[in-house]
Amino acid sequence: MNITVIGTGYVGLVSGLCLASLGHRVICVDKDENKIAKLKQDIIPIFEPGLKELLLEVKKQQKISFSTDLKLALNDAQAVFIAVGTPQDEDGSADLSYVLACAKEIAQYSNSYKLVITKSTVPVGTGFMVAEIIKKNNPNLDFDIASNPEFLREGNALSDFMNPDRIVVGTNNDRAKKLLKEIYEKFPEEKIVTTDITTSELIKYASNSFLATKISFINEMADLCEKTGGNIGELSRAIGLDSRIGGKFLNVGPGFGGSCFPKDIMAILNVAAEKKVELSLISSVIKSNKIRQEKMVEKIANYFGGNVAGKKIAILGLAFKANTDDIRYSPAILIVKKLAQLKASLKVSDFEAIENSKKELSEFSNIEFFEDVYAATKDADLIVIATEWNEYKKLDFAKIKTLVKSPKILDLRNILDAKNLEALGFDYNYIGRRQH
Ligand code: NAD
Ligand code: UGA
Repeated sequence: MNITVIGTGYVGLVSGLCLASLGHRVICVDKDENKIAKLKQDIIPIFEPGLKELLLEVKKQQKISFSTDLKLALNDAQAVFIAVGTPQDEDGSADLSYVLACAKEIAQYSNSYKLVITKSTVPVGTGFMVAEIIKKNNPNLDFDIASNPEFLREGNALSDFMNPDRIVVGTNNDRAKKLLKEIYEKFPEEKIVTTDITTSELIKYASNSFLATKISFINEMADLCEKTGGNIGELSRAIGLDSRIGGKFLNVGPGFGGSCFPKDIMAILNVAAEKKVELSLISSVIKSNKIRQEKMVEKIANYFGGNVAGKKIAILGLAFKANTDDIRYSPAILIVKKLAQLKASLKVSDFEAIENSKKELSEFSNIEFFEDVYAATKDADLIVIATEWNEYKKLDFAKIKTLVKSPKILDLRNILDAKNLEALGFDYNYIGRRQH
């Protein structure tokens, strides 16, 4: 099928490349000329494992092209995916301006049937708003709308797209349903969940809200372990072995971040408030996650009698999680900002997120950036692990011991080996460990 994907961010680019690898002819459109110019030169504008290889493969098969010209891209397209951002607005609601602008442009530039599929995460009712805009701007256009939310995770995006637990397809007629089934025909039929547009839109927010709740739950259990002496690792593993609970998304940490959970749970709360429905559980999750980052700063400050001013703190990890360069709502960045405001002397490092972080933290003169992890730890009074990069597990801690001023590590991701570090003479602390 000829498919146009609007937006070449994490979701649009991954979807476009994967749909091309499934055999469709895809044109990816973005209004960001810089991004499109890079993609035309085989440069991937984001860090996401495997994307470059896939781009080269589908390019060779002549299944993909990139453009800033939506009108041209829509000429032969039967299906159009909207995969643009839906950032958090000032009042906590989802900013739909990009999605609705796409709807208007699709209407203006289309002169043959289009299936308009919303892949962006959008509040319930958005699909019908898209339909209204298209009707208003091109009353004679034959089109259908559909909702097809995306569940991929950054850092694991290709594998998530190609091996999904389920593909949710929300339509309001058989023609749209048939076309979407055709788009995903290479996936096992039982993976495709067909539903109406409203339910499909709700499924996406419900999924993210549930996952965020799971994380907040285990983080609060870690707080309890810290006060009682319980072992959070064993607790997490044991409850996860109950198949009704499941072992995934029970890793403790500095709270959830990223471009999705924080904004999506605010957005669902906003929708519920509009409909006068109280989602008290979700409100609590938002509160719990906010407090979490404050607690992490407090934990760090406790090493220095509550005053971090002038203390040399090495922060390892800036991305909101491992395997991404994304720092949107990164707990690590929020913690760094707070410590910088409290006048700590910060040496920060990350494997992919340094460039993005430099821009985000440019207002602070007390933050130094290091590509080399070892250099970041030099003369440190404390090392904090803030992102769970696998590479941190393989560091030469004997060498680090010779570099630091004080051999203290606070692991906010519980990824390091306590026995090994303690044998080397480190004062090692992690989330859920009884405070001493
Ligand atoms: P992003 O910000 O990385 O990319 C969005 C892209 O859309 C940008 O390149 C922007 O230039 C482009 N764009 C905006 N308006 C445009 C227009 N009118 N025409 C052409 N291009 C336009 O966003 P993202 O992270 O890919 O997220 C997109 C949507 O998918 C959001 O709703 C998000 O909640 C959802 N989502 C994201 C993820 C994720 O892991 N990032 C996963 C699932 C769902
Ligand atoms: C999340 C969902 O996992 C995807 O299914 C969804 O498509 C996406 O949001 C979205 O809607 O955009 P993502 O934000 O890429 O994906 O990252 P996650 O792996 O879910 O992690 C989110 C945050 O939770 C990170 O800060 C991570 O460190 C934290 N987390 C995750 C934990 O603290 N513990 C865990 O066990 C898992």
